Amino acid sequence: MRILEPSCGDGAFVLPIVDALVAESPDWNDAALETFLCAFDISEKSVSKVRAAVDGKLLAAGCPKAVRERLLSRWFSCGDFLLHDFTCTFDVVIGNPPYIRFDNIDPAKQAAYKSRYVTFSERCDIYVPFFERSMSLLSKRGVLSFICSNRFVRSSYGRRLRRMIGDSFHVSLYLNMEHAQPFETDVSAYPAVFVIDRRVGRETYSGEISSIEGGELERCRTGSAKSILSRFDRWYSGRDAWVTTDSSLRSTIDNVSGLFPAIEESGAGTRVGIGVATGADDVYACGQIASEIESSCLLPLVSSEDIRNGSIMWNKRYILNPYDQHDDSRMLDLSMFPKTGAYLNRHAERLKSRYCARKHPDAWYRTLDRIKYSTLRAPKLLLPDIQRGGNVALDERGEYYPHHNVYWIKSSSWNMKALCVIMRSSFVTGQMRCVSMQMRGGSIRYQAQNLRNVHIPAWRSLDESDVDALASLYLEKDLKKIDACVERVVAKVSFRQPRRISELYFAFALG
Ligand SMILES: C[S@@+](CC[C@H](N)C(=O)[O-])C[C@H]1O[C@@H](n2cnc3c(N)ncnc32)[C@H](O)[C@@H]1O
Repeated sequence: MRILEPSCGDGAFVLPIVDALVAESPDWNDAALETFLCAFDISEKSVSKVRAAVDGKLLAAGCPKAVRERLLSRWFSCGDFLLHDFTCTFDVVIGNPPYIRFDNIDPAKQAAYKSRYVTFSERCDIYVPFFERSMSLLSKRGVLSFICSNRFVRSSYGRRLRRMIGDSFHVSLYLNMEHAQPFETDVSAYPAVFVIDRRVGRETYSGEISSIEGGELERCRTGSAKSILSRFDRWYSGRDAWVTTDSSLRSTIDNVSGLFPAIEESGAGTRVGIGVATGADDVYACGQIASEIESSCLLPLVSSEDIRNGSIMWNKRYILNPYDQHDDSRMLDLSMFPKTGAYLNRHAERLKSRYCARKHPDAWYRTLDRIKYSTLRAPKLLLPDIQRGGNVALDERGEYYPHHNVYWIKSSSWNMKALCVIMRSSFVTGQMRCVSMQMRGGSIRYQAQNLRNVHIPAWRSLDESDVDALASLYLEKDLKKIDACVERVVAKVSFRQPRRISELYFAFALG
C-alpha cells in the first residue's frame, strides 16, 4: 500500500499511520516499505518534527538504523505539494489540507496554481487544488479522505471541483461537521469529512453531525450510524451544489424544482439583484453628509440593519448618487452641483485610488456599481444577505436604494405583497437553507445566486382569491398563519400531485 499525506503538519495522520504499521510487526527488509508512505509539507520545521517523531517510533519498534535512515529519507519531502511532480499513484491519500484564502496566496503562486489546476478559479481557497491534485494521484482502487472546509460544496468557486468530482470520481462519504468543532484548537473552518474514490456509479452515504461527543463519529466510521447517514443512490452531478445531506429532502427539492419555476421565471419581469457597492462607503454612504450635498443628489439608503422582522426601519442614512438624475448611464455634471462637487473633490485622492476610478479616470467619482433609477423606483422586496430566514421587507413605493448587504427582487407581474408573503414562508426559507451556505449560529445567506435557485408557483397559476389571501397576510407576523396560507396555495396549484406536494411542503416547514 502507498499512502500520501500531502500536508503533514504536526503529524496528526502520519503518526497513527506509523503506529498502525509498527503494530503489524513488518519485515524491515521488505523493499515495499520504502514506498509505503509519502509525507509532504511546505514547512521544513513541520517535516523535521514529524520525521523525528517517526524515527523514535521506528527505533522503539526495533527497526535497524540503516533501514530507518533509508525509510525516513524516502518517506518525507519538503516542498509545495501543488507544484511537485509525482511519478507514482497512491492507494490512500489522507489529510487535512491547508486553508489559505485566495487573497493570502502569493501572486506568483496564484499564477503557478492557475496554470496547473482547472479547479483553481474564482478566487478559491488553496484547499480546492489540493483536492484536484490528490484525486489525480489516486490509483485505480485508491481512496482519498480529507477533513476539510466544506465551502466548495455550495459556493460558486467550488463549481469546477464539484464538476470534476461529479464527472470522474465517486463520493463514498460526505459527513458535514460544519456545526461541530472537531479540531484541537478552535478553527473557524466549516469542516466536513470527505471520502472520494474512482468507483463511479456506486452509492454515497451522507450525513451531518453537530458534535463529535457521544460516539457519533465512531458510529459513522463503523457504518452503524443508520440514523445519521442517509443513502444516496445517485450523488449530485456536474456542477450542482450539494444542497443537502438528507436523501429524502433531496428528492423533495428535485420535486419542487420539477413542479415550480425558479423565481426569475415565476412571472414576467421578475428579477433578483444586489444593492450598491461604492468602494468608499464612508464617503458615499453615511448619515452626516446630508447638509454638505444638494438634496437632489441624495437617495435614502437601506442597509441590512434597517430591515427587521420584515419591516424597513430606515435609520436616515443616504447614499450620494454621483450619476445624472435624468440619465443614470452618465455621470453627474459637478459644475451644476457645487456643494456635491466640493464634497467629492475633498475626497478626490481617496476616490481616485480605487480600481474603478483608475480604470475610468473621467468618472473618478463613480461608485463601484452603477446606481440605477429603475432599481430605486421599482416596488421591490428587500432581503438582508445574512439572516435566519424569512426577513423580507417590501419597499412598496420604491423609496429606498439597497446597500450591498441587501438583495432585491422586483417584478412587473407579481402582486408584491403576495410575493413578499411567499418569500417569508417556511416553503422558501426551507429551500434557502438547502441552497445557501450555513453560517455559524445557523444564519443563511440570501445571495442572488441562492435566491435564483428558489422555486415558487408561477404567478399565472394563482387565481385572484389566492393572491388576495396571500396579500392580506402582508402585515402578519405569525409564521404559522403565513405557512398555512402558502401551503394551501402551493398544494392547490400543484394539482398534479396535491397530496404529495403538501407532504413536501411540510418537509420544508419542519426544516
Ligand atoms: C491544516 S494544517 C494540517 C496539518 C496536518 N494534516 C494535520 O491535520 O495536523 C496544513 C498544513 O499544510 C501545510 N501547507 C501549506 N501550504 C502547503 C503547500 N503548498 N504544500 C504542502 N504543504 C502545505 C502547512 O505547513 C500546514 O502544516
